[in-house]
Amino acid sequence: MRQKIVAGNWKMNNTLDETKKLIKELKKELKSVKLKKDTRVIIAPTFVNLLTATKKTKKTKIEVAAQNMHQAKNGAYTGEISAEMLTSVGVKTVILGHSERRTYFNETDKLLTEKVNTALENNLEVIFCFGEQLEDRNSENHFKVVESQLKNALFHLKSEDIKNIILAYEPVWAIGTGQTASADQAQEMHAFIRGLFASEYSQELADTISILYGGSVKPNNAEEIFSKPDVDGGLIGGASLKAKDFSAIVKAI
Ligand code: PGA
Repeated sequence: MRQKIVAGNWKMNNTLDETKKLIKELKKELKSVKLKKDTRVIIAPTFVNLLTATKKTKKTKIEVAAQNMHQAKNGAYTGEISAEMLTSVGVKTVILGHSERRTYFNETDKLLTEKVNTALENNLEVIFCFGEQLEDRNSENHFKVVESQLKNALFHLKSEDIKNIILAYEPVWAIGTGQTASADQAQEMHAFIRGLFASEYSQELADTISILYGGSVKPNNAEEIFSKPDVDGGLIGGASLKAKDFSAIVKAI
């Protein structure tokens, strides 16, 4: 079943106290919001605050995701976090492949393939991020870049595994820049992505996969972006740090 999803990527923001405060405010803001069937709200705090977040959101409509994880099961990887550690604190979803991970931490398609495999083996659902750089779009290579990112990291998966993948198309030039893709640009790319899954797997599978848009989604543009038929929600950075803004985006889905 294709789900509508609004996910907040908190990135490296919010101390423990700030995490508690933001969750409290979000619960208040979302209390009166009646989510439609198959609509989900996810927040992704930083690792050290995941346990608090899963506890504080128990029996609410808010789910908790991690922002990253290591590909190995366990072992001598100082400073890293495993899939099993995430599930042990109640996390069910992990964001992988965010452009900031690709850019600042040299995460490649090959590494992401391993991370995706490890996550799925541990029953973690994956929000898989990808998207082109500005120069790719300017040189009209954006479709090619997106296709190769998906092919390299995901197309080895079986259909039943794809059910545990949420896609997040995030054009890098739109992340944190205030320069969002137009709703038409998002729709064009999302339809292309769905088409790729239809030809690699089946139309049936392609019709069930959720494709989120990410990159400067704000309360004032969410509704228009979400109104597009192939846009199933958003991955929200900056605007997910304010309860009122994030809730307004949730209401727009
Ligand atoms: P932004 O970030 O909403 O601040 O542009 C989106 C993201 O990085 O997921």
